[in-house]
Amino acid sequence: MTERIPLIAGNWKMNLDHLQSIALIQKLAWTLNEKGHDFKDVEVSVFPPFTALRSAQTLIDAEKFELNIGAQDISQHSVGAFTGEISGSMLAKLAVKYVLVGHSERRQYHNETDELVQQKVAACFSANLTPIICVGETQSELESHGPSAVPVRQILAALQGHESLKEFVVAYEPVWAIGTGEVATPEQAEQVAQEIRKAIQEVHGEVAEQVRILYGGSVKSVNVAGFMQGPNIDGVLVGGASLDSDEFAGIARYKKHIVL
Ligand code: PGA
Repeated sequence: MTERIPLIAGNWKMNLDHLQSIALIQKLAWTLNEKGHDFKDVEVSVFPPFTALRSAQTLIDAEKFELNIGAQDISQHSVGAFTGEISGSMLAKLAVKYVLVGHSERRQYHNETDELVQQKVAACFSANLTPIICVGETQSELESHGPSAVPVRQILAALQGHESLKEFVVAYEPVWAIGTGEVATPEQAEQVAQEIRKAIQEVHGEVAEQVRILYGGSVKSVNVAGFMQGPNIDGVLVGGASLDSDEFAGIARYKKHIVL
């Protein structure tokens, strides 16, 4: 028997220096502890900027916090003359567990293609990091192709051609819902998550049942419950609301286990 343990992930984006980051981790750990959070029931992970990963790791180790840390990006290269890039092995040394790959802001502002996202997934697999593969349609793609065509294309492209698939997570984030206050309805989000799982199943078989699919886009403590109700949604990827420890702890309180 396996289970899909919900994952609540906080993407801090380009906010907070390393001192502010450790202050927020401390506050978040304290708030979760005060609320009696059971990390075996709901995994909680935060994604600070690269400059804060080392301090975050030191604090988490010293205090034995059960929070995980993730990185917001990874280089597709493993080592060498790639100025400004950060490799998978560098992240692994900092006890990073997850890496956001193909976030829509990277696709949009840094021209990340499906092919590059596929290479970054490979970089995660070879460093034993778990990619959170972000997929989602823009407003105009929604209008011309409907909600699931683009996310399904993006996930299949990201998973294509790997020798073997290791653990990965999918985050379905409609681009039009990110940072806008607009949200997909829980029914829409569940339907796309279901299509994503079905597409993974058709191409990669039973691994699809184990994959956690998160919803992201203007998630808050007041709307999280609706998204988590869908049988195919196993957690949330939170941007703006993850910068407030009370709000994020409120989101993390929502429990759901899928036992397979
Ligand atoms: P948001 O961001 O919660 O601020 O909409 C989500 C994300 O970009 O992951």
